[in-house]
Amino acid sequence: MITVQDLTKRYARTTAVDHISFSVTKGEIVGFLGPNGAGKTTTMRMLTCFFPPTAGKATVAGFDVLDQPLEVRRHIGYLPEAPPLYLEMETIDYLRFVGRLKGLAGPELEKRVAFVIDRCAIGDMKNKLLGKLSKGYRQRVGLAQAIIHNPDVLILDEPTSGLDPRQINEARELIRSLAGDHTIILSTHILPEVEQTCEQVIIINKGKLVATDSVANLQARARGAESMLLEVGVRGGEFPSPRAQQRIEQVAGVSRVVCKEQFAQGAVFEIEASRGQLIRGDLARAIVNAGWELNELRPAAMSLEEIFLQLTDAPAAESAPPDSPAPPPPAPDAPAPEANA
Ligand SMILES: Nc1ncnc2c1ncn2[C@@H]1O[C@H](COP(=O)(O)OP(=O)(O)OP(=O)(O)O)[C@@H](O)[C@H]1O
Ligand SMILES: [Mg+2]
Repeated sequence: MITVQDLTKRYARTTAVDHISFSVTKGEIVGFLGPNGAGKTTTMRMLTCFFPPTAGKATVAGFDVLDQPLEVRRHIGYLPEAPPLYLEMETIDYLRFVGRLKGLAGPELEKRVAFVIDRCAIGDMKNKLLGKLSKGYRQRVGLAQAIIHNPDVLILDEPTSGLDPRQINEARELIRSLAGDHTIILSTHILPEVEQTCEQVIIINKGKLVATDSVANLQARARGAESMLLEVGVRGGEFPSPRAQQRIEQVAGVSRVVCKEQFAQGAVFEIEASRGQLIRGDLARAIVNAGWELNELRPAAMSLEEIFLQLTDAPAAESAPPDSPAPPPPAPDAPAPEANA
């Protein structure tokens, strides 16, 4: 549904987007992730034909952003960072206005206006001036205008920024509910948002693609070594935490043990094993044989936040000349991120 090949945008001095390539299949909901200034908005603006790329190619629904911008726009709904609302207009008039701009008219226009009002739950606000709406409602109206012409693709630039936690949840629900009918790219730097809303993630940093994968695969990849959380304790008396740590360190295949939490009758350890070592059985036996209680033993999933920091904290990217290859992966045992070759 979306293909991007070596897409590049240079401003006077900055290369904001530097040869990024990715593709998004139909019906997918993709998180476009990156720190401030990474190039998210710039990429989205090229996809929506707001301005042309300096180099590279992008297609949306089979149409080229350079050669067929009108077709691309017809297939895209765009919610920019700041929703383009006319504050002196009433919600419903504004939606009719945008609908007409997108080529709708007559009963079809009224049908679509009614549909998006219902879909975005803004019925109570339809006769209010946009300038009098709360931020959360403005964002919903922004979404409503983005979907009014029933586009195949939705491009949402930080759709939940500035909303309170309740509004964020509502907006996420709404976006998730749109995913069935539309292919969605949403940019954010809120990581739980991606974990909760998206299936795929594209991470960019300083204009370069650093990873594109599913959330689950990214977690598996970034983990690199098998790492586990172990909660162990005693029934009575005090738990000999240092001794337990030593005992765990002696288990074959264990490369590192960190005591994450300690309480009177137990402790939680994070245990790293050399890659591919299946140590669970040995670990469990060691604990039980020492006469301790094994309360929990489970794989320690790396949060997307840790992955994000690991991938976007690559050294030397800033000082590297513009055409140098992607920087090496940050940790020696982390697998190489999918560089933009
Ligand atoms: N109109 C412009 N002229 C010159 N440089 C620009 C312009 N717009 C953006 N940039 C630069 O391009 C880079 C990428 O900016 P962009 O707005 O795409 O980042 P972003 O990932 O959307 O960041 P944020 O999370 O802050 O929204 C930044 O270094 C920015 O300063
Ligand atoms: Mg931005």
